[in-house]
Amino acid sequence: MPKLVTAVVPAAGQGTRLGSNTPKQFLTLGDRPLLAHSLQILASIETIQEIIIAIPDTDQEYCRKEVLQYLSTPKVIRLVPGGARRQDSVRHALDALTNQPDFVLIHDAARPFLTTDMLDRAIQVAIQIGASVVALPMPDTVKYVNGSGMIEHTVNREHLWLAQTPQVFRFDWLLKAHQWAHDQNLDVTDDAALVEQFGFPVSVVPGSSMNLKITRPEDLTLGEIIWKSRHKEHQDTAWSCRTTKQSNTVKT
Ligand code: CTP
Ligand code: MG
Repeated sequence: MPKLVTAVVPAAGQGTRLGSNTPKQFLTLGDRPLLAHSLQILASIETIQEIIIAIPDTDQEYCRKEVLQYLSTPKVIRLVPGGARRQDSVRHALDALTNQPDFVLIHDAARPFLTTDMLDRAIQVAIQIGASVVALPMPDTVKYVNGSGMIEHTVNREHLWLAQTPQVFRFDWLLKAHQWAHDQNLDVTDDAALVEQFGFPVSVVPGSSMNLKITRPEDLTLGEIIWKSRHKEHQDTAWSCRTTKQSNTVKT
């Protein structure tokens, strides 16, 4: 039986490390606002029925006008107020759910380069295991550094992975983990941390270094480069399809 998936997009951060006056989710990347990139990919996934965006109340009208105009989808897209911390924004989205999806897929607005492949794999693994996190094996040597800037030791990186989003969870697991975190006053930076701490199994799904999170100013420069190369690939494919079609027409 096909599974129902609701996507939650936390987009209520301050972008402190980026240091821009415009909230980073609204900054232009390539041809559209940052947030519009991930929404477009999420909307293209058949099993995703509904997308809930957590965004400050004061930005909702702007979001409707300037971001949602890039989406043409029959899917339900709802805006809910963000919270003080990322986990509060996600909790607000969970509180606003009117239906009971089988799975909730969470993807940060700040990661515009997710792919349909990545989403399909993350959903498939979550269907098998119950929860999945797109992540990357640690590529560099890792040092443990004390408060005076001195290396204390080198950390074995064999089992270290860098967590990205999308992250997909059984809805009942995610809800329990979030309620427990709220009661216990836990503070985490991703949802998998809650689900893991609650004791549910979570599997990694290999991600990509292209699935960059726009965090610091230099990430915007890198983001433009990735966008241009993707856009060019897309245009080249469209061009080669057109020329193949034309030469086929000549042949027949
Ligand atoms: N986020 C959110 N609500 C918050 C904080 C963060 O919805 N209270 C979202 C951000 O909008 C972003 C994602 O969580 O899409 C990942 O957060 P991060 O990259 O840390 O973004 P910011 O919190 O905006 O940036 P910073 O930490 O530099 O202030
Ligand atoms: Mg943050």
